Amino acid sequence: MTKLGIIGAMEQEVETLLEALREQTSWQKAGSTFYEGILEELPVAIVQCGVGKVNAAVCAQILCDHCHVTHLVNTGIAGSLCAELDIGDLVVSRDAMYHDFDCMKFGYPFGKVPGMDTVAFPADQSLMEAAYAAAEQVNPGHARIGRVASGDQFVASKAVKEQIIARTQGICTEMEGAAIAQTAYRNRLPFVILRAISDKADDSAQMDYPTFERIAAHRCAQVTRSLARQLKAAGQK
Ligand code: ADE
Repeated sequence: MTKLGIIGAMEQEVETLLEALREQTSWQKAGSTFYEGILEELPVAIVQCGVGKVNAAVCAQILCDHCHVTHLVNTGIAGSLCAELDIGDLVVSRDAMYHDFDCMKFGYPFGKVPGMDTVAFPADQSLMEAAYAAAEQVNPGHARIGRVASGDQFVASKAVKEQIIARTQGICTEMEGAAIAQTAYRNRLPFVILRAISDKADDSAQMDYPTFERIAAHRCAQVTRSLARQLKAAGQK
């Protein structure tokens, strides 16, 4: 039976989802609160992981070990890395990689974690399709599929943005997705990342982020609920 693990980085987004969560129970682990219940008729576990790669990976592993989730989705906001993605638009991951992982001195390609057999962790095809359908439902004509570039850095300068694009070919940047992707990959769990654009990851990012964070967080929650409905419907076929 499908049980969806939902990892959000932001309070507003998780709060919106919790308002819709039925038969709610909660418990604490490693400083985070894990909520379990039924969202859109689908069993889910929800956690607000906090910011950055380590927080994200810790929570993803707990969802695997203690909640026995079968699928993982990471939702939240992101900075745009391409001209076609404007504030409020939606991104669904094709794959995810780090923009701040560099063992090139030892002959590894940029972004490659030694011991992993891939630079970019691929999202699950059918989750990706379901997430894209959900995104199109919420914001028609404004959803794109592509690479998510993650790192422990709020990107707010044109120069850094250009470097990340050149190194990763990502279409958006955020601070958790690839860590969740790597955790899912190691546990052989299907995952997808779903992000709403809150800023352009350039010199205007610091200004735009607080203005658009709320709207983007709300949009993510809507798409996540739609994704839960799609997964429920797919499970019934
Ligand atoms: N999340 C939202 N905007 C971001 C940015 N510009 N850099 C990193 N993470 C983000």
